[in-house]
Amino acid sequence: MKATAFLITTSLSQALAQVSSHPFPWSAPGPNDVRGPCPMLNTLANHGFLPHDGRDISEDRIVSVLNNSLNLDDELSQSLFEAALTTNPDPNATTFSLNDLSRHNILEHDASLSRQDFYFGDNHDFNQTIFDETRSYWTTPLIDYKEAAQARLARVNTSMATNPTYSVSEIGLVFSYGETAAYMLIFAEGDGTANRTWVEYFFEHERLPQQLGWTKPQEIISGSVLLDTTTAIVNASHASAQEVTEMMDFVNLNAG
Ligand code: HEM
Ligand SMILES: *[C@@H]1O[C@H](CO)[C@@H](O)[C@H](O)[C@H]1NC(C)=O
Ligand SMILES: *[C@@H]1O[C@H](CO)[C@@H](O)[C@H](O)[C@H]1NC(C)=O
Ligand SMILES: *[C@@H]1O[C@H](CO)[C@@H](O)[C@H](O)[C@H]1NC(C)=O
Ligand SMILES: *[C@@H]1O[C@H](CO)[C@@H](O)[C@H](O)[C@H]1NC(C)=O
Ligand SMILES: *[C@@H]1O[C@H](CO)[C@@H](O)[C@H](O)[C@H]1NC(C)=O
Ligand SMILES: *[C@@H]1O[C@H](CO)[C@@H](O)[C@H](O)[C@H]1NC(C)=O
Repeated sequence: MKATAFLITTSLSQALAQVSSHPFPWSAPGPNDVRGPCPMLNTLANHGFLPHDGRDISEDRIVSVLNNSLNLDDELSQSLFEAALTTNPDPNATTFSLNDLSRHNILEHDASLSRQDFYFGDNHDFNQTIFDETRSYWTTPLIDYKEAAQARLARVNTSMATNPTYSVSEIGLVFSYGETAAYMLIFAEGDGTANRTWVEYFFEHERLPQQLGWTKPQEIISGSVLLDTTTAIVNASHASAQEVTEMMDFVNLNAG
């Protein structure tokens, strides 16, 4: 009995080790493939988990892909899908394409971590100059909430100072904080920290950092887990910067 359990456990862990050491296939987008402003959805398309052409992504597909590859809770994925659907110009659509997400001020917002503001032109491709500003605030090998919050605030500062059309809707603000929380959770190492090497590799290559030792998170990422981490980022922002208050006022003014 003991021996059988041992055998099963051993072969299971061997199988798991094989799975995790076997790299997922990956290929860069081709000329007919579409991509958008979300580095994670681009990444999943580059791996072929989502359609490699980035087009016509259905609810079933995205829910199962986010479940299998990132341990996202199905309900959270369903609400993200609902939000994504609003970016498809066809009001009767049941799918979205990655480039639909680039439509400005639906979900896509100013002051992204790795993309230029819409005002400056390309608001969807990775931009090294923008990302270099962000990552200069990740000053330790493990990014903590404070560094993550500062990096985001720095981009808000820069956008407010340089983009005369700067604005962020309420949903834009929720997404903006949520995106910082999302990378902190998916690339978590330790409690409340993320591995900087993994995060930078992910943004710069739009590829899961599997060969750098990353594996699918063990914790289920539910809406409430995401909300808790988002709250921690908001809190870390308030604690360190009065401009958050100014920004909130700005948002409230804009929201009327
Ligand atoms: C159906 C699921 C998802 C949808 C519809 C979605 C949509 C978006 C959109 C529209 C943006 C652009 C926001 C901007 O203007 O910067 C974005 C950015 C982002 N997303 Fe996703 N996303 C999804 C899932 C995820 C997941 C699972 C992660 C996990 C890491 C993630 C991480 C990010 C990050 C870090 C950014 C910020 C990029 C930047 O600021 O440069 N997303 N996402
Ligand atoms: C992932 O999918 C499986 C199979 O449908 C389901 O049993 C499980 O609850 C899902 N996991 C999450 C975190 O939603
Ligand atoms: C959407 O569906 C409605 C109801 O079926 C139809 O009247 C309308 O023409 C459709 N719109 C488009 C753009 O396909
Ligand atoms: C990246 O962003 C910087 C700053 O806005 C801009 O000067 C540069 O032209 C952008 N690069 C590309 C390739 O769009
Ligand atoms: C944002 O700008 C304010 C002044 O406008 C400055 O005091 C603060 O340090 C800046 N924060 C970051 C993270 O750049
Ligand atoms: C982060 O990941 C890198 C690459 O696998 C690894 O060398 C490093 O030890 C990790 N950093 C920390 C602080 O655990
Ligand atoms: C909020 O931030 C303060 C100061 O950084 C910290 O001491 C506190 O634990 C944080 N609270 C939560 C709920 O994250």
